Amino acid sequence: MALGPRCLLLLLTLHGISGKVLHAGCGQSQVSATWGRIVGGHPAQAGAWPWQSSLRRRNVHVCGGALISSQWVLTAAHCFSESLNASDYQIHLGELRITLSPRFYTVRQILLYSGRPGPPGTRGDIALVQLNTSALLSRWVLPICLPEDSATFWPGMRCWVTGWGYTQEGEPLPPPYSLQEVEVSIVDMEACRQDYNNTGGTIQSDMLCAQGPGDACQDNSGGPLVCQVDGIWLQAGVVSWGEGCGRPNRPGVYTLVPAYVNWIHLHILAARESGLAPLPLVASFFLPGLFLLLISCVLVAKCSLYRAPSSPLTSDL
Ligand SMILES: *[C@@H]1O[C@H](CO)[C@@H](O)[C@H](O)[C@H]1NC(C)=O
Ligand SMILES: *[C@@H]1O[C@H](CO)[C@@H](O)[C@H](O)[C@H]1NC(C)=O
Ligand SMILES: *[C@@H]1O[C@H](CO)[C@@H](O)[C@H](O)[C@H]1NC(C)=O
Repeated sequence: MALGPRCLLLLLTLHGISGKVLHAGCGQSQVSATWGRIVGGHPAQAGAWPWQSSLRRRNVHVCGGALISSQWVLTAAHCFSESLNASDYQIHLGELRITLSPRFYTVRQILLYSGRPGPPGTRGDIALVQLNTSALLSRWVLPICLPEDSATFWPGMRCWVTGWGYTQEGEPLPPPYSLQEVEVSIVDMEACRQDYNNTGGTIQSDMLCAQGPGDACQDNSGGPLVCQVDGIWLQAGVVSWGEGCGRPNRPGVYTLVPAYVNWIHLHILAARESGLAPLPLVASFFLPGLFLLLISCVLVAKCSLYRAPSSPLTSDL
């Protein structure tokens, strides 16, 4: 195909600006940031959060997750407290509502950072799920970017959390089970430690706290906390635990993604080298041609590891 020579050219340039080229395929919402995003729990628009995944155990939604490459979903370790058997789980991608759609991915393997799920409030509440086959990327199914391990998310920074969790304490999401989005602010770690002092919960160094200006419940375990930096969405956290939802002085607690980004990269690379990952096939008729070309080239080169922009988060925002 005519793609050949152009791919070669692009691959050559990958070495110089690998971060930028690789992240062109991730963190791209199909909805502009200023449109349809309302403070407080609110149904999300199609394509706004194309990395949002639904983790099902025997076809029942149990947790959220985020697609981080064509074959991997990042979620929380405590989502697997009932079973660690990969055949019990399914992943649904590109869906706005919880449905029994027959289009889902089976799971090849589940990797927990700590080996086994711990009780709420323990360190290492993070897990990787490998799909049995590569996801078909489209306008509705795209990976989120991962931050660098040095990234910091400062207090007051506005981020978004999405999921199909309870809309309020004790109130499950009502039909039609539409994906909810809520804007939250990163909370200072010391303040969060104090908030949770004498509550039985301990804020560890691999955690991140965020509280909404609205009072939406954050019972969306495994789902992504994402922040927009220079027009690209980065995953800052994984919904982990909290006391109740939306209570004053009880911020939501997330697993801090930068603390595990090296572990994530290690496992994705290891899986690829052991030949587990088949050559992904990308089909998208909606995206601009250049974007499609870049993705194809990157995937053909078996470089489906999406990296964050190289500019550290601590700078200009
Ligand atoms: C995992 O589940 C499948 C199907 O339910 C079952 O056949 C298999 O024996 C289970 N494996 C383990 C290790 O329990
Ligand atoms: C994974 O895919 C292979 C074929 O590619 C199939 O034989 C196998 O049953 C699948 N495993 C699961 C758990 O669906
Ligand atoms: C927690 O509370 C105890 C007293 O109840 C206090 O001595 C300690 O400094 C507090 N820790 C934090 C982090 O606020």
